[in-house]
Amino acid sequence: MDLGGIRISNRPEASTEPDVAQIASLYTSVRALTRELCAPLSDADATIQSMLDASPAKWHLAHTTWFFETFVLRDHVPGYRIYDPDWPFLFNSYYEAEGARLARAARGLLSRPSLAQVIDYREAVDAALLVALGQLAPDVLAIVELGCHHEQQHQELLLTDILHAFAQNPLQCEIWQRDANPSMPAAKKAGWLPMYEGLAEVGCDTGNGLGFAFDCEGPRHQALLHPHQLADRTVTNAEWLAFMADGGYDDARLWLSDGWAWRNSEAVRAPMYWQESDGEWTSYSLSGGRPIDLDAPVCHVSFFEADAFATWAGARLPTEFEWEASAATHDPLAGNLLDAGGDIRPRGAGDAPAFFGNVWEWTGSAYRPYPGFRAADGAIGEYNGKFMNSQFVLRGGSCATPRGHVRASYRNFFYPHQRWQFMGLRLARDCA
Ligand SMILES: [Fe+2]
Repeated sequence: MDLGGIRISNRPEASTEPDVAQIASLYTSVRALTRELCAPLSDADATIQSMLDASPAKWHLAHTTWFFETFVLRDHVPGYRIYDPDWPFLFNSYYEAEGARLARAARGLLSRPSLAQVIDYREAVDAALLVALGQLAPDVLAIVELGCHHEQQHQELLLTDILHAFAQNPLQCEIWQRDANPSMPAAKKAGWLPMYEGLAEVGCDTGNGLGFAFDCEGPRHQALLHPHQLADRTVTNAEWLAFMADGGYDDARLWLSDGWAWRNSEAVRAPMYWQESDGEWTSYSLSGGRPIDLDAPVCHVSFFEADAFATWAGARLPTEFEWEASAATHDPLAGNLLDAGGDIRPRGAGDAPAFFGNVWEWTGSAYRPYPGFRAADGAIGEYNGKFMNSQFVLRGGSCATPRGHVRASYRNFFYPHQRWQFMGLRLARDCA
C-alpha cells in the first residue's frame, strides 16, 4: 500500500520534514513509556477485557506496534518481513483498508500470544524501525511521528482500560504507589473568567510554524463567539456531592431525554468508580480505594451527567471554540498530566486557572469536521474522519494524558454515555 504524498496530519508545511534525530528521540521515549506503564501487570492482568469499549493492555502493546510495522516497515522498508503473518489479523483495530480483523469483543480471548511474546514483537519492530529511520523519506518520517502520537493516545486508553478492569476486582488492588504526601492543594472557590466575545481563530492551520497536530484539528478558521464567560476551574467533587444531595440524579427535568433513558437503564446514581458505604463515598483509582477528595475535579462522568449538572447549576457546557479561545493563552505542558509511576488521579486545582490536565472537559460541541476538512486517502485516512458522528468533543487532557501530547486545538471525542476516561466538566454561561 502506498501512502506517499498524502497529508496524514496537520503538521504545518513550514515543518513538514521532521528531523530524524527528533523523531528517533520521540519514538524511543514513547515506546519506553508504554512499557513502563505496563510494568506492574502480569500476563493475566494484561489479557483481560472488562467491557466492549476497553481493550487488554497486551492488545494495546501489540496494536501500537502493528501500526508502525504496517504503515512504515511493511510499506516503506524494502525487504522487511512481517514478524508473524497471523498477527495483523489480531492487532488491526478498525482499518477497513487493511482487511479482515479480529472482532473487538474477542480481544480479551487472546491468551496467546503471551505478554512476553508481544514484548518480543515490540522489540523486534523497534530494532527494525530504528535501523531504517535514517533512510526514510520525509513523508514516511511523518507517519512515524503520527505513530508516536497514536501510541500516546493508546497510553491513556491503556491506563483507563486497566483501571476499568481492576475496578471489577473486589480486592481494590493498588497497582501504583500512592503519593508519599496524600494532601492535595485546595480548589479555590469557583469564579468566572472575564467575558469573551467576537471572532476567534480556532483550529491548527498549516504553515503557522507549530508542531504536530491531527488532521481533525484543522483547517484553522474563524468562529463567532457570542458573549459568554467560562468558569475559572472545573467542577469539583464537593460540588458534585451537592448536586447528588439535591436530587440531581432523580430529577428528569435536568436531563436530556437520551440521558434520562441512559440514567434509568444503567441505574446511574454517582460518577463511575464511586461507592457508598454507611453514607460515606469512596472512589477507586489505580492506587486503591480512598475517600472522595472534595477539592479534586469530579471525574468519570458522562456527557449526559455533565449536561444535567450544568442545567442544575443554571449554566451550560462550553462550546469547543469557547474553550479553545480561552485555553490558547495557557501552557499545555502545565497541569496534572501523566507522569510514569505516579499516583494517577485528578487533584485540586489550586489558585491558577488551569486548562490542561486533571480531567478532559466535556464540551457541548459535536465532533464534526471543520470547514474544508478532508480525510486523507487510504488506510490512514480512516484515523479520525470516519468517527465524526454521534460523539462530543472533550478538551484539555487529563492526569493520564502524556505530557506534551495535548494542546489548545486538540480534539478528543467520545459518545455521550461513555465515562471510563478521565472526564469532567467546566461550566459556561451566556452574558446578556
Ligand atoms: Fe489505534
